Amino acid sequence: MAEQVSIHGQWSSRLAFILAATGSAVGLGNIWKFPYIAGENGGGAFVLIYLGCIILIGIPIMMAETMIGRHARLNPVNAMKKLALESGARSSWKYLGLMGVVAGFLILSYYSVIAGWAMAYVVRTGAGIFEGATADGVASIFKGLISDPERLMGWHTLFMLITMLVVARGVKGGLEKAVRFLMPTLFVLLFVLVGYAMNTDSFDKGLMFLFNPDFSKINGAGVLTAMGHAFFTLSLGMGAIMVYGSYLPNNVSIAKTTFAIAAADTLVALLAGAAIFPIVFANGLEPGAGPGLIFQTLPIAFGQMPGGALFGTLFFVLLVFAAISSSISLIEPAVAWIMERFSISRGMASFWCGLVTWFIGLGTIASFNIGEEVKFFGLTFFDLLDYLTANIMLPLGGLLIALFAGWIMLADKSREALEMKEGFVFMAWRFLVRFIAPLAVFVVFLKAIKVL
Ligand code: PFF
Repeated sequence: MAEQVSIHGQWSSRLAFILAATGSAVGLGNIWKFPYIAGENGGGAFVLIYLGCIILIGIPIMMAETMIGRHARLNPVNAMKKLALESGARSSWKYLGLMGVVAGFLILSYYSVIAGWAMAYVVRTGAGIFEGATADGVASIFKGLISDPERLMGWHTLFMLITMLVVARGVKGGLEKAVRFLMPTLFVLLFVLVGYAMNTDSFDKGLMFLFNPDFSKINGAGVLTAMGHAFFTLSLGMGAIMVYGSYLPNNVSIAKTTFAIAAADTLVALLAGAAIFPIVFANGLEPGAGPGLIFQTLPIAFGQMPGGALFGTLFFVLLVFAAISSSISLIEPAVAWIMERFSISRGMASFWCGLVTWFIGLGTIASFNIGEEVKFFGLTFFDLLDYLTANIMLPLGGLLIALFAGWIMLADKSREALEMKEGFVFMAWRFLVRFIAPLAVFVVFLKAIKVL
């Protein structure tokens, strides 16, 4: 019998999937978000909890998502429905896929705005305006950018257009090639930045902040943020990895590929942290400065190091590429589903998804300037979307995926779908998705709403 293939095609190899999934995982989450939320939540203890979540919750759920996608070979909504019916469960599991589609829209709407900042910084670093700039000068350049809604809208529009064009052409073509060159170069540049950080007099202090856990600095809300970020950074809980899994050929070890992806993703985040915090302390900046943290620290380094304008430009170009390879995976579940559901072309589906996302993004733009004072439950529009998606929707999606893989799918079926032998790794995986991951998410939720 011929191997079952998704109607949207298939990756050419194991490496292609690894590249695409790593492209999805490594993005603004690692370089922009991880440092600033680690800074806001006191550093070490937060980082340790985040690492624990990656290992105990993220990796098993990533395996589950990939497995569900590959086994069903359908978009997340139909994949959940098909496998639920196949396992004798209700077809309402499809709503899990649908929640993922919605989460993708919401995340991309603000992701694109931040990617726009990175684009603006390509131009600014390229023009050499950071050369010799002080921390104050760099901060005021950042303020100038985010307080200008029209400029932000221009960059947001450009980023959304690029995303829509790539998605309209199909996620496989250019992506494979781009990520192949992108990842190694990004690593090299991060090492250059860490090298710079080593030469500041605050390298030890930066590393201590990042790796020396002080649990008195973290509360239930911080633990939720750390867990939510584990989902966000690995692109879990919303079907992105599931849809990529549906294009994955058989005979590829899901366990090994997942480890490789999670390891690369974590390394990028830790390198970014090790580059940024020494700069923060060397310049007397605030680790909890918020979403502007990298934009207010890295330019100082680029302004001081030899060849900084060149390195800086390249760095922000790579950051934009990393954002594109993530943004296409944020919208791909929606596009794949809409194409099938409404029988429209990939081009049309991309266009409509892009338009809706672009529109929601205007709210995030406003939340940094004209709408700064508009609060929902005490949060700006951007903070609200971030909280709702990263801290609630993704962990909830992940929790349900774990329950589905662990309790609804029969053991034999999941083992077959993972192409694993009846050994320790399979047993460990099954134990984690059945008990540890769901329980951990549940407990963290309860802690965050102060029930526990
Ligand atoms: N993992 C991406 C990052 O760290 O930037 C963000 C992301 C992509 C989240 C895809 C969720 C997703 F489905």
